[in-house]
Amino acid sequence: MKTLVTGSTGLVGRALCARLRERGDEVLRLVRRAPSAADEVQWDPMEGTCDAAAFDVDAIVHLAGENIASRRWSKGQMLKIRESRVAGTRLISEGAVRITRRPKVLVSASAIGFYGDRGEERLDESAARGGGFLADVCVDWELATDQARRSGLRVVHPRIGMVLASGGGALEKMLLPFRLGLGGRIGSGKQWMSWVQLDDLVRILCHMIDDEDMSGPINAVAPGAVTNSEFTRALGGVLRRPTLFPLPAFMARLVMGKMADELLLSSARVAPAALESAGFEFLHPEIQEGLEASVC
Ligand SMILES: NC(=O)c1ccc[n+]([C@@H]2O[C@H](COP(=O)([O-])OP(=O)(O)OC[C@H]3O[C@@H](n4cnc5c(N)ncnc54)[C@H](OP(=O)(O)O)[C@@H]3O)[C@@H](O)[C@H]2O)c1
Repeated sequence: MKTLVTGSTGLVGRALCARLRERGDEVLRLVRRAPSAADEVQWDPMEGTCDAAAFDVDAIVHLAGENIASRRWSKGQMLKIRESRVAGTRLISEGAVRITRRPKVLVSASAIGFYGDRGEERLDESAARGGGFLADVCVDWELATDQARRSGLRVVHPRIGMVLASGGGALEKMLLPFRLGLGGRIGSGKQWMSWVQLDDLVRILCHMIDDEDMSGPINAVAPGAVTNSEFTRALGGVLRRPTLFPLPAFMARLVMGKMADELLLSSARVAPAALESAGFEFLHPEIQEGLEASVC
C-alpha cells in the first residue's frame, strides 16, 4: 500500500506516517518547503502547483492547513486558515481524479468546528451544520473535495475533535498553568469538549483508509465527551494539582480575541456514532485514560 500524506510534519501527520510505516506501507509526503528526503515531494497549495505523479498512490490522507490556534484571528489570519484548507483540498481533489490509476480513497481532514456552539445537544453525523467562522471553514473545506466525490472516488471526512497528545496541540498549551497549580475551568465550565487521543486518531485514520464502507463525514472523537469542568478536574487529577483558578470568559476574550468564543467557550457534545456502528474500538474512550496516555 502506498499512501500520500499532506501535513506530515504536523502533530497528527507525524504520528500517522510513523504508524503507516510500522505496518509496512510506503509513505510519500507532500511538503511546502524544498524536499530534503527521498519520500518528499514539493507542492504549493496556494499557488496550485504539485507534481501530478505524486497522486500515483493507493490512498491519500490530506491533513494540511494553517494551524487554527497559533495566532490571534486577525482578518488576514482567518483568510489564511480558510484558504490554506479550501485551495489545498481542491488541488488534492483535482490531482486525485486527473491521474489514470486513481487512488482508492481520499481521507480529507475536517473538524468538529462544523457543528458550532450547540449547548447540550448530542451531535452525531446527521446533525446540521452550526454557525460561526469555524463552521463556515469546515463546510467549505469538506465541499472542496466535490470533484473527487462526483468522480466516484471514496472520500472520507474525519471531523476531528481536540487531539490529546504529548508534545503538541491544545493540551500542551494547558499544561504549564495546570502544572503550576494555576489551572481552572474556563467561563461557566458547562461547555462540552469533544476530544480524541492521538493514538486513537491515528487508528481511526488507518481504519478509514482500510474500510471500504467508510465514506462521507465521520466524527473522529472519543465516546467520552466531557464538560470543561469535568475536563479540568480530570487534568488536575492526572497532574495531582489543584484547579482553583477559573478563567472568566471576559478574560479569555481579552487574551485570545475572537478565537476564545469558538475554541474555548463554545460547546460541542459530539458522538462517534458512525465509528461505533462500524465496530471501531477505542483504546482511550474516557477522559481519565485519554489524559493519562497524553501527559508525560
Ligand atoms: N490538532 C487538533 O486538535 C485538531 C482538531 C481538529 C482538526 N484538526 C485538523 O487536523 C489537521 C492536522 O492537525 P495537526 O494538529 O496535525 O495540525 P498542525 O500540527 O498544525 O500541522 C498542520 C500541517 O499543515 C501544514 N501547514 C501549515 N500551515 C499551512 C498553510 N498555511 N498552508 C498549507 N499547509 C500548511 C504543515 O505541514 P508542511 O509544513 O509539511 O506543509 C503542518 O505541519 C489540520 O487540518 C487540523 O485543522 C486538528
